[in-house]
Amino acid sequence: MEDSASGSSLLDNAPRPEYLAKVVATRAELRADLQAALGAAKRFVWEVGCGHGHFLTAYADRHRDVPCIGIDLLNERLVRATKKKNRARLPHLHFIRADAQMFLEELPADLEFAAIYVLFSDPWPKKRHHKNRIIQGRFLSDVARHAPAGVPLYFRTDHSGYFSAALEIVQAHPDWRVDPEAPWPFELPTVFQQRAQSFQSIVALRR
Ligand SMILES: C[S@@+](CC[C@H](N)C(=O)[O-])C[C@H]1O[C@@H](n2cnc3c(N)ncnc32)[C@H](O)[C@@H]1O
Repeated sequence: MEDSASGSSLLDNAPRPEYLAKVVATRAELRADLQAALGAAKRFVWEVGCGHGHFLTAYADRHRDVPCIGIDLLNERLVRATKKKNRARLPHLHFIRADAQMFLEELPADLEFAAIYVLFSDPWPKKRHHKNRIIQGRFLSDVARHAPAGVPLYFRTDHSGYFSAALEIVQAHPDWRVDPEAPWPFELPTVFQQRAQSFQSIVALRR
């Protein structure tokens, strides 16, 4: 098949079989990691972009009745997070390498969030990069599919532009309600929070 404008074959732009096989393998590995982490449990606390795991390790230490899963893209951060988990002996805490969107796509339909934390996720300050931010309408819809009514989503950032945009997106979303009165339930400064001069938080509840 040829693209008459460019003269190149449309098949030239198709993903290579090796790439597709890698994606399939990554998704299968993620499903296996999830199964190994949760076993028969159906609810868990999720931290997106857990970095070195400071927050979730401390959280899991104080909340031993619910499995906790932190995900991040960067292996080196997950290695450090997992060392913390092992030192603290927290079998209900798990750090998994995954992209947030892929995680949501691979999450079995019967699994539910008990709470969701998005702490100091990358603000992607340039307008053309805003599409890379975690807080997007699609993300909120996908999370909502696994969140029964009342489940909280906690968001915190030191970037005022990201804060305003996230607030607008959450307020406009039919599945979530911003609760300005809701308390922040567990304080433990993350690495990025320690570096921040100030920060702002959003607590949203699943409608
Ligand atoms: C600015 S750091 C904040 C880390 C930690 N939450 C903190 O406050 O110290 C953002 C983290 O999110 C991770 N991240 C970015 N995009 C992600 C995605 N799509 N899925 C999972 N993790 C992501 C990055 O690798 C990075 O470790």
